[in-house]
Parts: sequence; C-alpha cells; structure tokens
Amino acid sequence: MAAPSAPDAIRDVNVRYHDLAADTYDAKWGIDYGPSGQAQVLGKLRKALGAIAGPYHRALEIGAGTGYFSLNLMQAGVIEEATCTDISPGMVEALRGNAAGLGLEVDARVAEAQELPFADRAFDLVLGHAVLHHLPDLAAAFGELHRVLKPGGLLVFAGEPSRWGDLLAEVPKRSALLLAPLWRRAVGAPALNGHGVAHAEENELERHVDVHAFAPGDLERVARAAGFDQVRVRGEELLANWFGWANRVLEATAEPEGIPMAWRRYAYHGYLALQRADAGVLEGRLPAAIFYNLLLAARKPR
Ligand SMILES: C[S@@+](CC[C@H](N)C(=O)[O-])C[C@H]1O[C@@H](n2cnc3c(N)ncnc32)[C@H](O)[C@@H]1O
Repeated sequence: MAAPSAPDAIRDVNVRYHDLAADTYDAKWGIDYGPSGQAQVLGKLRKALGAIAGPYHRALEIGAGTGYFSLNLMQAGVIEEATCTDISPGMVEALRGNAAGLGLEVDARVAEAQELPFADRAFDLVLGHAVLHHLPDLAAAFGELHRVLKPGGLLVFAGEPSRWGDLLAEVPKRSALLLAPLWRRAVGAPALNGHGVAHAEENELERHVDVHAFAPGDLERVARAAGFDQVRVRGEELLANWFGWANRVLEATAEPEGIPMAWRRYAYHGYLALQRADAGVLEGRLPAAIFYNLLLAARKPR
C-alpha cells in the first residue's frame, strides 16, 4: 500500500486503522482509568500548563480514542462536563463503553477535527492526546479549535511526536529487533506465528496513520497563526520512551499469551521509573526538541 497523501485518504486510513484497533487499544497501550491513569494524565496536564487550575466546566476532546484523557480528568475532578469526539466510530463506541463502566456521563460523537458540530465559543477547555500528528490539515483544525473555544479558554495537547525524538527512537527500535530472538529465548516466549487477517491489515494500516512529527516551533507557529496567545511547547519522555519502544518491539515479535507476566510487570514499572527520571532530571535541562513527546498549551485571547 502506498502512503496516502490526499486529506481524504489520510482520514480514511485513520478510520480503518482505529476502528480495527479500538477493541484492544487499552490493553495494547496499558491505558488505565484508576489512580495510576489519573496520575499520568494529571502529570501531563500540569507539565503543559505549568499548573492545573480548573475545574473546567465544559471540555471538548478531539481524537479522544477510548477516553484516556477525558475520562481520567473527569474522575480527577478537573473536568465537569466532557464532550469527546473522534473520527473513528469504533473508538467512540469503545469510549462510550468505558464511560458507562466508570459511571460517567459523556457526550461522545463521531466528528472530524476540522469540522466540529458545535457552536462558536462553546467550550472552556479544548484538549487532545496523540492526535495532531494524524490530522491532514493542521491549520484548518486549529482554526476550528479556536472557533469553538470561549475567549480566555485554554487549548492543551500532549503526546505529540517530536521530529528529533522520533529519529532518536529508531535506535532502540532497531536494536530491539536485532535482539528479539535472544530476548524470546531468555524469557521463554514463543515467536509470533498467528497472523490473522485482521491483525495483518492493522499492522499494514498502522504504517500510514501518522502524517506529522513536529519541531516545537511548528506547533507554536500553527497555534499563533490560528489566533492563540500565551503559546508554550514543552518536551517530555526520553529514557522512558526508548525503554518503552524497545520493549514494544520485542513484545511484538512474540505470541502475546506467551509473554511472561513477570516481564510485563518489569516493563511497566521500568517505564514508570524512567518517566520519573525524565521528569525529575532531564525535562527541565534539555531542549524540548529532543524529547519524544511534545506538549502544547495556548490561550484564546479575551
Ligand atoms: C493515537 S490515537 C489517541 C487516542 C486517545 N487520544 C489516547 O490518547 O488514547 C489517535 C486518535 O485520533 C483519532 N483521529 C485520527 N484522525 C482524526 C481526525 N482527522 N479527526 C478526529 N480524530 C482523528 C483516531 O481515530 C484515534 O482515536
């Protein structure tokens, strides 16, 4: 399959991939809606904004997926009313299921980021996690986000891949691929051989859903051009990300049920420990551009 470049083709591949991924998405990415998920999301919001004010009365999330950000922020009391949108009907269904399971009321709708079915100045906070890099026309999307925010309202994005961070992450990814046979032998995990049709299609589509990796200045420029002020871009996760990618590549070469629980616990706790090291030592000292994830915060002027 050739990489799609026309906006509609990019949207289409995103819908197909995320519809296929929706059912297993939380398990694949270790998404949690308990205290640890809330702490993760609050940590990202605090980094992006400097401090968490709130509670925010009406919040809109775009590319909300299964609800990682909004559902955790509602439970933490940071958001009072959540409207969650996503281009993938499968993701919106999964989000509704998660919200119901947690006893939360959410307005969840299928919507494209640059055509939001909401009135002007409807929200106090507009947010997203790991979504901007999928959008074919960022300028149009930011114009729409500006339109639906109230004057003085806040815009927050986290989890956007940085261009340098993405390049640097190739090192652990490639090393892990080389080491995978040794790793499987060491932990006793059988090599992956069950290539179901859906799985193969999902892997093929996954290669085409990301259309941007950003320099911090790219995000700053697109936000300012749409009319936002108080724009700031931060970087997060370096060591944690290398560790996470290496483990994800290793694990993808084995049958999932054959990976020992002790390994999964080590990978999870190791990731959290390195996240703390990144936040405590590296993030305040190194330039945003070299981290794997970028965070953007901005305000719509009053
Ligand atoms: C990497 S997932 C992140 C999901 C969720 N925010 C999270 O952090 O778990 C990206 C999400 O963006 C959605 N998406 C992709 N393109 C979109 C578009 N043009 N408009 C709205 N949502 C889009 C996908 O369907 C997917 O659910």
